[in-house]
Amino acid sequence: MNFDIKKIIKERWGQNYDLHDQFVNPQFVKVLRTIGFDKVYKRAEGQYLYDADGQRYLDFLSGYGVFAVGRNNPQIKQVLHDLLDLDLSSMVQMDCSLLSGLVAEKITSLTPKHLDTVFFTNSGTEAVEGALKMARGATGRSRILYLDHAFHGLTLGSLSANGNEEFRGGFGELLEGTKIPMNDLAALEYELKKNDVAAFIFEPIQGKGVHIPEDHFLPEAQKLCQKYGALFISDEVQVGLGRTGKWFGFQHWNLEPDIICLAKALSGGLVPVGTIVMRRDIYKKVFSKMDRCVVHSNTYGKNTLAMGAALASLEILEKENLVQKAETLGNALRQAIHEKCSEFEMFKEVRGKGLIIGIEFKEPKSFSLKAAWKMIHAANKGLFGQMIVVPLMSKHRVLTQVAGHNIDLVKLLPPLVITQEDVDYFANALRDVVSECHKFPGGAWEVGMMLAKNALKS
Ligand SMILES: Cc1ncc(COP(=O)(O)O)c(C=O)c1O
Repeated sequence: MNFDIKKIIKERWGQNYDLHDQFVNPQFVKVLRTIGFDKVYKRAEGQYLYDADGQRYLDFLSGYGVFAVGRNNPQIKQVLHDLLDLDLSSMVQMDCSLLSGLVAEKITSLTPKHLDTVFFTNSGTEAVEGALKMARGATGRSRILYLDHAFHGLTLGSLSANGNEEFRGGFGELLEGTKIPMNDLAALEYELKKNDVAAFIFEPIQGKGVHIPEDHFLPEAQKLCQKYGALFISDEVQVGLGRTGKWFGFQHWNLEPDIICLAKALSGGLVPVGTIVMRRDIYKKVFSKMDRCVVHSNTYGKNTLAMGAALASLEILEKENLVQKAETLGNALRQAIHEKCSEFEMFKEVRGKGLIIGIEFKEPKSFSLKAAWKMIHAANKGLFGQMIVVPLMSKHRVLTQVAGHNIDLVKLLPPLVITQEDVDYFANALRDVVSECHKFPGGAWEVGMMLAKNALKS
């Protein structure tokens, strides 16, 4: 065969942004170019990205959390090579594949006993879509309750449970649902009492804004859902599989969700994958007889490469104690950030569990900084975070993100394989950047002004 992908990559090297500008998402290209994130990475390994000059970048975003076991994990690569070499019969569809059965067996060995039935999907949002559909099918009710700031994916069903107007707006009528303020049990009970709620869906720790519920909230919410017959769905797409220092986020409060959604880290980032894990009686109500055996299904869900990668990924998380490591290194990272940055007046707090971490900033008291802060916020309420994220990349080659609208927050979502050296490097880099932001006038605020001008133009 003449098709040579290596040759194509070599010949077209560096055309990435022009191609996307022309054919994919020019607005996103504009953003990346504005904030100086328009890099062309050549290679990736573990927690690092490398450009063509061999410069190393510390990846504290991990592909939105998929690379928990590190980028291009050699064990997962080997499994994928092996599976391709075996020429297995993937997706016969009218059969039951061994690997998907093994992944289901493994996942249910990690979940509480009552979560014993698995449905495979291709993404996080598809897992959420399926969970909402199962809840409607099993309860015969249609309304969904979700939390303020919630993010469950961006397809129409998942978007209906999104707690951010910035995402919802402009797409017409969504599924029936009601937003509940976090920690507001009275508001939750008020809605549940109407007896038309299929499910209450929540992220144990929210990805947008890294909001953590108060300790009493989720256990009490679960009791209320049980009392009024609504299903309790834990969306573990981002925090599941070790990120918070436990296998699942709901374990921080000893919850017993009726359904959980998983994706992201499950395949180690090399193949799309997702799952819904539910109680058997929910499955039985939906797949109620033989002629409904594929009443919910998809084409690629149980494909061989995703299943092999999932098996390997779960094994690596377990054997390399990455769940425990996420807790230890998460504590070390939050502590280091606090030690290096808490003296600065714009530093508000660092929060999170394990390796999902939010660093929040607040309005300063001193006169000149306050004026600069107000000017930046008048242009765009989320811009200050970019003043941290941009120099972390340009000066220190660390990839982070601003997560959430109208919030002064930088989010860290590193692979679980980072080391103490990475923790120290990051904390020093952050201190440098935060300290620059406390000098006005100065380079950091010039970056802010430039971003503000672009925000006002767009
Ligand atoms: C909690 C949560 N649920 C669902 C999703 C959607 O997953 P995907 O992007 O794979 O569709 C995300 C994605 O970030 C998420 O964080």
